[in-house]
Amino acid sequence: MKNKVNVKRLVLGIILILAAIFFVQAPFASWLNRAFFSSNSEKALPVPPLLEDLDPSPKKGEFQLTARRSVKDFGNGMKAETYGYNGDYLGPVIRLRRGENVSIHLKNLLDDITTVHWHGVELPGKMDGGPHNGIQPNEEWTAQFTVNQPAATLWFHPHPMYNTGEQVYKGLAGLIYIEDEVSDRLNIPKDYGVNDFPLVVQDRRFENGGMPYNLSMMDIMQGFQGDTILVNGAINPYLEVPKGKVRFRILNGSNARIYHFRFTGDTPFWQIASDGGFLEKPVKLNQAVLSPAERAEIIVDFSGFKTGERMELLDGNVSVMKFVVTDKAAKDVEIPERLTTIPKPDPSTAQRTRKFVFQGMGSMVNINGKQMDPARIDEEVPLNATEIWEISNAGMGMMGGMMGVAHPFHAHGVQFQVLERNGEMPPENERGWKDTILVQPGETVKAIATFQYEGIFMYHCHILEHEDAGMMGQFIVK
Ligand code: C2O
Ligand code: CU
Ligand code: CU
Repeated sequence: MKNKVNVKRLVLGIILILAAIFFVQAPFASWLNRAFFSSNSEKALPVPPLLEDLDPSPKKGEFQLTARRSVKDFGNGMKAETYGYNGDYLGPVIRLRRGENVSIHLKNLLDDITTVHWHGVELPGKMDGGPHNGIQPNEEWTAQFTVNQPAATLWFHPHPMYNTGEQVYKGLAGLIYIEDEVSDRLNIPKDYGVNDFPLVVQDRRFENGGMPYNLSMMDIMQGFQGDTILVNGAINPYLEVPKGKVRFRILNGSNARIYHFRFTGDTPFWQIASDGGFLEKPVKLNQAVLSPAERAEIIVDFSGFKTGERMELLDGNVSVMKFVVTDKAAKDVEIPERLTTIPKPDPSTAQRTRKFVFQGMGSMVNINGKQMDPARIDEEVPLNATEIWEISNAGMGMMGGMMGVAHPFHAHGVQFQVLERNGEMPPENERGWKDTILVQPGETVKAIATFQYEGIFMYHCHILEHEDAGMMGQFIVK
């Protein structure tokens, strides 16, 4: 008898509370979301800090990075040993301007040799931070270069010989933004942390109370595949977004996983930039495929959403992160019809075509039958030459390895334009600057580039387990 009364009261109480919430929905929506998410111990998306420029003059930049060990609580009961640049995990965003002369110092407080490579930056080989630029523990190295390429979202990460996979896995990666007159002029979302957010997406495997980098047989074949997705170092975080257009600069910072990004209900979005900068015009998409090291800048329009409405970023059907629409009005920005003009090199002016065949499996992965040898230069490219590089994936069967694995091709110090994918025009969102090009089993991609900087550079598969196994070569520009 007594129990029944209590149940009735409880139900009535709940109905009253729900009704109250319904009537005052809007102001409480974001509070509710926060309460809901925090009770599920879910985290707000961490937004990495912008790294302070230590040089006050506008034509110069000076930045300090420190690589160090740490322990990070990922909120899933796991306290993992991590590495970070200036923090526990990942690093700050380094914002540069075209024309600026920059010095970036890296102090190595790890117990191992490291390097810091500026992925996507066009600069001389000496400053590239490849395996030849090793920094001993407790030493500091300085890269100095002049920014001379269009606005883009690039990144930095370690590149020590045979040990890149582990150092990146533990957390060493950060973003570089380049801005220029074109990005200044465009009326697109550009308020950092307000309507312009970096999303560094990685997969990790939590086990034995931590996040050890233990490679199984499968990992050696396909590259490391985790079971937990992190965005900016947080597991399935949420982000409050203004009711309007929001720009996301997505980096696939994973060692090997390829993502098929889409939003709930296949909500369309616009890709505005690829690896090396803006596309000529925005490309409307329902899905964006990003292989390791590739970037895409996209704009999502939340203006048709209700306050408190949620949307998810998915990888196939797996939730990557959530968005909660707030009642904050967004700045009036556009999805412009034209973004920039990309000069198109004429393929008939190419001095030569070089072929790179990615083949083999597991520890036998190789390019053109060769594995990385630091003492061997594989290709010599004349300074300022324009060349076509034809990259193919031997695919299944004897040469490609029984299973056939996708290989994201990457070369240092240069940006390419894809001319052809399997004999056809590349898809629209692959018609801008690219430094990392996904080549699926059996595919052949032709890309063109002009090599404007001297020095020794790497080309390799950006599945870091393949790179570390020797799927890498060196070219010299002179
Ligand atoms: Cu992202 Cu050889 O590098
Ligand atoms: Cu690189
Ligand atoms: Cu590979």
